Amino acid sequence: MNDNQTLPAEIERVLYTEEQVEQRIREVAAEISEKYRGRDLKLIGVLKGSVFFLTVLARAISIPVKIDFLSISSFSAKTTAPGLVRIAKDLDESIEGEDVLLVEDIVDTGFTARYLLQTLAARGPNSLALCTLLDRTSRRIVQVPVEFRCFEIPDRFVIGFGLDYLQLHRNLGCVAVMKLERNA
Ligand code: IMP
Ligand code: MG
Repeated sequence: MNDNQTLPAEIERVLYTEEQVEQRIREVAAEISEKYRGRDLKLIGVLKGSVFFLTVLARAISIPVKIDFLSISSFSAKTTAPGLVRIAKDLDESIEGEDVLLVEDIVDTGFTARYLLQTLAARGPNSLALCTLLDRTSRRIVQVPVEFRCFEIPDRFVIGFGLDYLQLHRNLGCVAVMKLERNA
């Protein structure tokens, strides 16, 4: 927990403190550095949630990395098109021939990650893998290969470290469970 922050009233409990999250990210960054040693790695962040994770991860990786971002629009299961995802802002540069790591804040149903992996794979990268801060496998609907994962979390809505509730709380240093029941 950042000393300048007080916990919002909407929080039921802290799942991982800022220190725990950063420690775990350093471990995963070491695995990534080892796996891609000798190669140039491109990290692709999914705006906006993964920005917080990506910057901490990138700084803990010991090999040179490039960074690019995309953003998506997705439609919740409440709409008539559950699982429909499209790219709202595309990458700035080509990924052809590159070693690409897609960096996500959370993989939940898997729809977003599956769509992005399929879309990026079609662009001819040398390799493509998925790294996520949080993984909630209990809610998975479509299977996606998660190569690097920091934490497996319970089936509760979480905020902080980039994750939002109605765009708020991304700046919370810890990852916390919300008091409200899921309505996303
Ligand atoms: P998926 O397509 O169901 O895997 O959804 C992934 C996206 O849903 C994430 O990138 C988040 O934007 C959002 N999401 C899923 N669960 C949570 C949560 O617990 N807190 C905040 N956002 C979430
Ligand atoms: Mg997201």
